[in-house]
This record gives sequence, C-alpha cells and structure tokens, in this order.
Amino acid sequence: MNDLKKIKEPEGSAIIDVKDGNLLVPDNPVICYIDGDGVGPEVMSVGREVINSTIERVYRGEKNIFWLKLSAGNEAISLSSSPLPEETIEAIRAYRICIKGPLTTPVGGGHRSLNVAIRQTLNLYACVRPVTYIPGLPTPVKHPEKVDMVVFRENTEDVYAGIEWQQGSKEALDVITFLNTKMGTTISPDAGVGIKPISIQPTKQLVRAAIEYALTKSRKSVTLVTKGNIMKYTEGAFRTWGYEVAKEEFGNYVITESELNEKFAGEIPDGKIVIKDRLADDMLQQILLYPQNYDIIATPNLNGDYISDALAAQVGGLGIAPGANLGHQIGVFEATHGTAPDIAGKNIVNPTALILSGVLMLDYIGWSEAATVLKKALEKTIASKQVTKDLALQFKGVPSLSTVDFGKALLKNIS
Ligand code: NAI
Repeated sequence: MNDLKKIKEPEGSAIIDVKDGNLLVPDNPVICYIDGDGVGPEVMSVGREVINSTIERVYRGEKNIFWLKLSAGNEAISLSSSPLPEETIEAIRAYRICIKGPLTTPVGGGHRSLNVAIRQTLNLYACVRPVTYIPGLPTPVKHPEKVDMVVFRENTEDVYAGIEWQQGSKEALDVITFLNTKMGTTISPDAGVGIKPISIQPTKQLVRAAIEYALTKSRKSVTLVTKGNIMKYTEGAFRTWGYEVAKEEFGNYVITESELNEKFAGEIPDGKIVIKDRLADDMLQQILLYPQNYDIIATPNLNGDYISDALAAQVGGLGIAPGANLGHQIGVFEATHGTAPDIAGKNIVNPTALILSGVLMLDYIGWSEAATVLKKALEKTIASKQVTKDLALQFKGVPSLSTVDFGKALLKNIS
C-alpha cells in the first residue's frame, strides 16, 4: 500500500521496493504513465500496447505491468487547474518508475518547464540518452553504425536551473546593481540575467553514475565534455570534480588517456575504462569525424542537450531518440522529442522514440529479456521499411504507415 491519499493502486499489483540500494521489482509492479500533450497520447497508446504484448509473449503471464495513469500538462490543467499536481509528483516518488509523453513549455511566459520541474523535484539527476543506429534507417552520415554512445547529461543544474530574471524587472536590476557595485562587473542595466550554478555533489553523482554504467556494461571510456577553458569555475570545475570521482572512487578500474598511451601503448587493459575530457565545441566535430572513439559521455546540462540532439540526427533524427531521467532508484522515461503540435491528432507521429524509452525502462527494472525482444521487433519493422511518414519521406518511394498501423506491424514482429 502507498500512503497517497487520492491515488489507488490497481488491484492485484505490488509496489517496487528498494533494498541495499537496488530496486526490488515484483512480478506485478505498478508503473506510472503520463500521456502528455500534443502527440503524447498517440505515442503512449501504441507504446503501452507493444510493451504489454512483449511482456505477455516473453513471460507468458508470469510477469505483468499494472499501469497507473497520472496527469500533467494540459490534461491536468483541465482537471485540477495545476499543470503539475502534487499528487502526480508524489505518485512517481512512491512508485519509482514512470513513462511519460512530452509536455508543452510555453515560450516567453506561462508556466515554467514541467519537465525541468519533474527532474528537479524528484532529483532525477541524470538524463541518460543512448544513441545507436537502427540498421536500414536513412541518415545524413556515411557510417552511422559507428555511433554507439550513451550521453549522461546532468539534469538539475547549469543555466537550465531556471534561475533567471527578465530584462527590466526589479529583480534583474537588483542583481545587476549588486554585481556592478560589489563585484566590479559592467553589465548593461537593460540586460536579462541568468545564473549558472554547477556544484560538487550533483557533478560527482552524475559522473559516478556514468562510470558505474560504463563498468557494468563493459564499455571502453567515459568522456567529460565541458567548456572549461572559458567557464573555469563552473564547467572547468565539473571536469576537475569528474576526474576526482574517477580517481578516488574507481582508482582500480580507471586509467587516464595519457596513462593509456604512455603505460599501455594505446591498448585498454581488460576490466579497465579510460577517462578523458574534451571541450564541448571540439566534441561536436569529434562525434561527426571520429564517433568510434567515444562511448559514454558525462557532461553538464546545456552541453548535454546539444550533443544528444546532434547525435540523434547522426543516426536518423529526433523521432527515434529515447531518454531516461534517472535518480537514486527512481526513473522517468521519455522520448527526446517534444509535443510536435504541427502533427498532433493526425495519427502520423512516429512512436519509435517512446517505444525505445520503454525498452530502456524494461532494462532498468531488470526485465532485460523483454527489452531485447521489443528492440529486435522494432528493428525488424524498420528494416522492412514499415515506417511512419517522417521516415518514409527519407526512404523515398516507401508508403507511410499511420501511427496505429506502425504499432500493428511491430506487434506482428514480436516473437
Ligand atoms: P518537437 O520535437 O515537438 O518538434 C520538432 C519537429 O519534429 C516538428 O516538426 C515535429 O512534427 C517533428 N517531430 C517531433 N517528434 C516527432 C515524431 N515522433 N514523429 C514525427 N515527427 C516528429 O519540438 P518543438 O516544436 O521545439 O517543441 C514543441 C513543444 O514540445 C514545446 O512546447 C517544447 O517545450 C516541448 N518539448 C517537450 C519535451 C518534453 O516533454 N520532454 C522535449 C522537447 C520539447
């Protein structure tokens, strides 16, 4: 039983628990979902259906998800006048796993980003975005198959923390006056102002998670990506603290790039990973020119946003890029794309990114067999050129499937 007042668990379900820092997942867990705005309900509907069918095929009734619907965004505004009800946040906290559709963030006014609020309130400190190539997909590069990276983007700090004041506001003027009179700056009084906090604990927990992931999944390297040459006390500090974690907590498993070349002649010894760093601008060309040299990336919030979208484009676009927002034994899984208002309600949206987010979710709760089967079914469907409009346009001469029909084609490929 949970101690939430308004939300009732589905009958026959059980709560995911935690023991010794590990998730304890029953065979009948409650998993939350949020439809979201725009195309959200369309991708969520297909997504939950294919996840359910995969679990049924793989576990033959021995395991079963009990879905719990939560509201946020426009649906929540119409139900309770708040875009992010307390109840929704508390339910995610209690049940630990949630898969969600995108939520609208109004530009230049209205409510703040609900996605940022969810990440900050629940301390979902790592935005994890794996980027791999799905065979057969048209892409703008010659060798998309060389891309196999996982971006660990710090999720709670940086200029994304939402600490900013509008140009002309009293707050902006107060901050500017303080900085100009006390700190010797010469900021124009008609500036809007934002703050970029980067601190030790969030940085270290992010880099720690990236290194742990690299070691668990037998990957080769973790690259710290910052603009530390210019922003020395924020991004530069991120790099320093990242190396500290590597040395102090994983000293037996981690070697630096110079050790790799000087002591090991460029060959990574078994059981070790290389920790290295790159400047963010350089990294955007590195991932295009030498993607095979990079593996796990750990980076502050804004860099991570740019790099993960650029990488997604390299392997075929945002419509196929999944994501996970992870905290300590809690995860919210979502596609990288937004609400796509231009195509909402038309039954043409590509649900691949949301389905791949479901694959990540299944893997995270330890149902890896189901994750593998669902990913293979998705790859088979795309390889046979049964795709939605966005991909059909790129394949050229291929008829497009509706969102619902793409889901049906995928269901046939689950075996
Ligand atoms: P967007 O990702 O919604 O759309 C950009 C373009 O890509 C559009 O032309 C859209 O039709 C297309 N597109 C996106 N996903 C697609 C898919 N699965 N299949 C086919 N085509 C797809 O980005 P935009 O327009 O910048 O943002 C719209 C809204 O979404 C904004 O309010 C933004 O704040 C919000 N957003 C929410 C996110 C979240 O909830 N995690 C993430 C990104 C944006």
